[in-house]
Amino acid sequence: MITIKENINNVDEFNYLFDAVGWGSHDKKISQIALNNTMYSVSVYDDDKIIGYGRLIGDNICYIYVQDIIVIPEYQNKKIGKMIMNKLVDKIKEIKKENENVRAYLGASKGKEPFYEKCGFITREAAGLGAGMILEIK
Ligand SMILES: CC(C)(COP(=O)(O)OP(=O)(O)OC[C@H]1O[C@@H](n2cnc3c(N)ncnc32)[C@H](O)[C@@H]1OP(=O)(O)O)[C@@H](O)C(=O)NCCC(=O)NCCS
Repeated sequence: MITIKENINNVDEFNYLFDAVGWGSHDKKISQIALNNTMYSVSVYDDDKIIGYGRLIGDNICYIYVQDIIVIPEYQNKKIGKMIMNKLVDKIKEIKKENENVRAYLGASKGKEPFYEKCGFITREAAGLGAGMILEIK
């Protein structure tokens, strides 16, 4: 049975999921710090097997970032990703009740934009905003 749980943030599951989608897991200590600083997360299980994850990071009231949306390959294209995003968007809407002006962002991997569009996100360009930018650390 597929279930979705909030705020589990299990470091072994997190690293397993990263490996499963070919991202390569972080050092366990680094993943643990990242998870400790997570605002809200959802983990999806098939019985007790972890199959998906997504998290929100941010200041909990003004700016929120959607991060690390993962569904393991065997379970992709079965609406699990959408289930994760719906739950994260519900959380963002809950925060919006406290702060009308909350902004939620994400950085889509190349080719994943249509998935996020189906979850209610639009590009910054479509929102009349400038480019999203990333620091090139040398
Ligand atoms: C991206 C990812 C999270 C999508 O999860 P998923 O469970 O396979 O997607 P879903 O089945 O919930 O798809 C929901 C909708 O988005 C569409 N969709 C999903 N991935 C898509 C893609 N790459 N391109 C176009 N549409 C896509 C589906 O067709 C579906 O459309 P529908 O509602 O009209 O039928 C998953 O493929 C994944 O984990 N990929 C590897 C990690 C990754 O790249 N994460 C995103 C980082 S930005």
